Amino acid sequence: MQNLPGKTAFVTGGASGIGLGIAKALLGAGMNVVVADIRDDHLEAARGELGSPERVLALKLDVTDRADYARAADAAEARFGKLHILCNNAGVAVVGPTDLATFADWDWVLGVNLGGTINGIVTILPRIQRHREGGHIVNTASMSGLLPHPGATIYGTSKGAAVSMIECMRAELEPQGIICSAFCPGAVQSNISEAAKTRPAKLAESGYAEADKRRQQGGNFFHLYQTKEQVGERVLKGILNDELYIMTHSEFRQGLEERTEAIRAAVPDLPENAEYKATFSMLFRNPIHAAEIVRQKKLRGSPS
Ligand code: NAI
Repeated sequence: MQNLPGKTAFVTGGASGIGLGIAKALLGAGMNVVVADIRDDHLEAARGELGSPERVLALKLDVTDRADYARAADAAEARFGKLHILCNNAGVAVVGPTDLATFADWDWVLGVNLGGTINGIVTILPRIQRHREGGHIVNTASMSGLLPHPGATIYGTSKGAAVSMIECMRAELEPQGIICSAFCPGAVQSNISEAAKTRPAKLAESGYAEADKRRQQGGNFFHLYQTKEQVGERVLKGILNDELYIMTHSEFRQGLEERTEAIRAAVPDLPENAEYKATFSMLFRNPIHAAEIVRQKKLRGSPS
């Protein structure tokens, strides 16, 4: 998406970490920014860090609450008029072996990460479509969504869904001038280790309490992580370039290549049914992938 100045972005979980980094970058690009977050203390700190009160609206929102979401979208439109960019960024995590997971662990993480993203799409997409000026939807997934790994079954499930959602919507919405991007960062300095503070009492029963305590005591690796400003600028660049996958780290290259090759290698050596292939052609290739290969080669200045 181009011509950002004067347009409006709605960033969930925008008052801390990656969301705040995205909000800063979009504000720096001349946009109005709605920062929607469940935590009052994060909202207060974000107001101070972002400044520019004339172009920033910091709103309390629980993305799992659909009525709350509609009210927040109404308030955003009342303040800035049209909404153009939706960043489905609010997210929480539990980490540890799958057999420790309770239903509440699954419901909480999927409720925020996937349910909150669904609520963003259903609430905000029609508002973007209505003004016909185009727009952009960014789902903050994770490299865990592209390269799932042991110990992150619930989180990886939510993030894989966030990527798939973008891959399904992209070709549908592109003709309307609405671009969809999956943001897939590696590790970023943030407050996600405090996520349990926003966990609702009715979903409190966790199998990960001990694992969480041990992890909190396990040391701080922030020196290995990118900053929220670095990744915020990366998202801005990804939006301006219409990138399908917005990535931040090269360390995952081999893992991604192995996963892609493993999937390719598993395709059976059977004769194709030409009629099946012709009848349902849209199932066998998604045009966004070929287009992205061309886009990325162009961005890197290599011949397509
Ligand atoms: P963070 O904890 O610093 O920021 C997340 C914000 O979301 C917080 O301000 C929190 O109050 C808010 N939030 C939580 N539940 C909410 C709800 N129900 N409704 C509204 N707001 C809610 O964490 P971080 O790391 O910046 O996370 C942002 C996104 O980035 C998440 O989706 C996370 O999964 C993803 N991510 C983070 C990575 C990292 O290394 N920090 C790496 C890859 C992805």
